Amino acid sequence: MRHETIEKSLSLMMVLIVVAISIGGLVEIIPLMFSADTTEPAEGIEPYSPLRLAGRDIYVREGCYNCHSQMIRPFRSETERYGPFTTAGETVYDRPFQFGSKRTGPDLARVGGRYSDDWHRLHLTDPRALVPESNMPGYPWLLENTVDPDLITTKLKALRFLGDPYTDEQIAGAAAAVQGRSEMDAIVAYLQELGTNRRDRR
Ligand code: HEC
Repeated sequence: MRHETIEKSLSLMMVLIVVAISIGGLVEIIPLMFSADTTEPAEGIEPYSPLRLAGRDIYVREGCYNCHSQMIRPFRSETERYGPFTTAGETVYDRPFQFGSKRTGPDLARVGGRYSDDWHRLHLTDPRALVPESNMPGYPWLLENTVDPDLITTKLKALRFLGDPYTDEQIAGAAAAVQGRSEMDAIVAYLQELGTNRRDRR
């Protein structure tokens, strides 16, 4: 009888559906906000060094995530090709994370150390010089642009405000660490580190 009342009142049913779905969602989401597996850095994971942080921001600015994911799913076809699957604990310092959802190019979560610095520099300047069938665009301007040292200090301070454990020395030394470095240096440093701290699981 009571169920019939609900079924006949569209607005009441909508409210109850929202309540039911919210409870189901919250029961799944809230524990993740407190679980060490998802909120604490995995072993070996450290905040980005100033140069790599600059590289990461260039990666975001240039939209590399539109073609490259950084999330290896726990399937054999993925782990055999790219390496151990991604865990939440290795992305705690990624704001925002770069999981991505499109793979026009390969996943990059474990690309660090796979090629030389020179390979990356040439590939990012002119991908088809190395991979003739590639449809990746070139980014030659990265060679000319330099990283802004003042900006990187501000970024580190902001990240510390959000809880990343940067020390006073790291913040004081940040500007010097990127002084005179090109955007190419920064993005290659970023790429070369991706996944290297997870080698234990290879
Ligand atoms: C239009 C899509 C597209 C965009 C945007 C793009 N890439 Fe790629 N990328 C590809 C494709 C396709 C390949 C595979 C062919 C090749 O190696 O060039 C690739 C390959 C790569 C590889 C080699 C990966 C491996 O395991 O062999 C790296 C590193 C890379 N891209 C980095 C970047 C970075 C950094 C950016 C942003 C500055 C970027 N890509 C933007 C499509 C793209």
